Amino acid sequence: MTSPVATNDLSALPTLSTELHDINEEQLNHFATAAETMIAQAIDVPALQNLRVQFTGKKSALTGWSKQLGKLDSSDKKTYGGWLHGVRSRIQEALSAQQQQLEADALSAKLESERIDITLPARGGQKGHLHPVTMTAQRMQQFFVQAGFNVATGPEVESDYYNFEALNIPAHHPARAMHDTFYFDAHYLLRTHTSPVQIRTMEKKAPPIRIICPGRVYRNDSDQTHSPMFHQLEGLMVTESSTFAELKGLISEFLEAFFGKQLTVRFRPSFFPFTEPSAEVDILDDNGKWLEVMGCGMVHPQVLTNCDIDADKYTGFAFGMGIERFAMLYYGIDDLRLFFQNDVRFLKQFS
Ligand code: PHE
Repeated sequence: MTSPVATNDLSALPTLSTELHDINEEQLNHFATAAETMIAQAIDVPALQNLRVQFTGKKSALTGWSKQLGKLDSSDKKTYGGWLHGVRSRIQEALSAQQQQLEADALSAKLESERIDITLPARGGQKGHLHPVTMTAQRMQQFFVQAGFNVATGPEVESDYYNFEALNIPAHHPARAMHDTFYFDAHYLLRTHTSPVQIRTMEKKAPPIRIICPGRVYRNDSDQTHSPMFHQLEGLMVTESSTFAELKGLISEFLEAFFGKQLTVRFRPSFFPFTEPSAEVDILDDNGKWLEVMGCGMVHPQVLTNCDIDADKYTGFAFGMGIERFAMLYYGIDDLRLFFQNDVRFLKQFS
């Protein structure tokens, strides 16, 4: 900040002789009063510093006069010395008073500018909500939990054994080509489906088994209806009397409960190495088009045997479906990628 001209302009001061013996007490008092007035008008700290130099510095009139004290005889020295001391004290007091004033002003200006108005009304919280994929998964799970299924989970980093081998998909089996697998090395991979949780569950627990397993799965695939990461909901039931008819009934009921309306459901013969027989489930949409919604089948006896379950005594069925697929059908969304871009404008519509 440049100091205003007035602070450098000493013309407001009475012009006094530079010779000490030409000056009287009244003139000095006048001089001090004029200096006090100027100091009290300094508008900021640099301006005040400027005045401090002008009035008390080496080249100031006051210092000039004080230097002449030594040449005076002792009684004059005492008189002039007293006067000059008085002038210097008044100027110094004025300087420090103004310094304090400017600092106080600066502080209150700062406080004022930083003041928080605590009486302002709050902006109103923005409430979040669950992601549509999570909501869909929860609604899917709800049906099966009510039907007596327990929720199981398994690792997303899986071994070749659990993801393929134990599910009756040996190395070089053409079914592996259905899964574009992300491999870490020869043994570890990102699970391509939730079916390995079937194996992990059957290894640990004897039948009867009724589980569903929601979770992330990974495939090296990306377009409007495929994402490298997506979610599946797996189901597995193993008892002494599980039948395909039971599977068909359960799945049909689930689909009608999920979509909240009567549906035409079709079980179309298909193939999975870990189920026999296998089927794809289709539902008929309003335009008379069949939509594929899941894969299912009776657990292959070899898979039961792999888990030390007596395949002569027990039978089971399993099913697996894409959670995003259900979310897309339910909400009428035609691009899967929207779920993962997390654009708030998109997500807000599901609150
Ligand atoms: N795991 C199969 C898939 O990802 C789906 C499935 C699960 C099929 C269980 C049958 C039984 O395509």
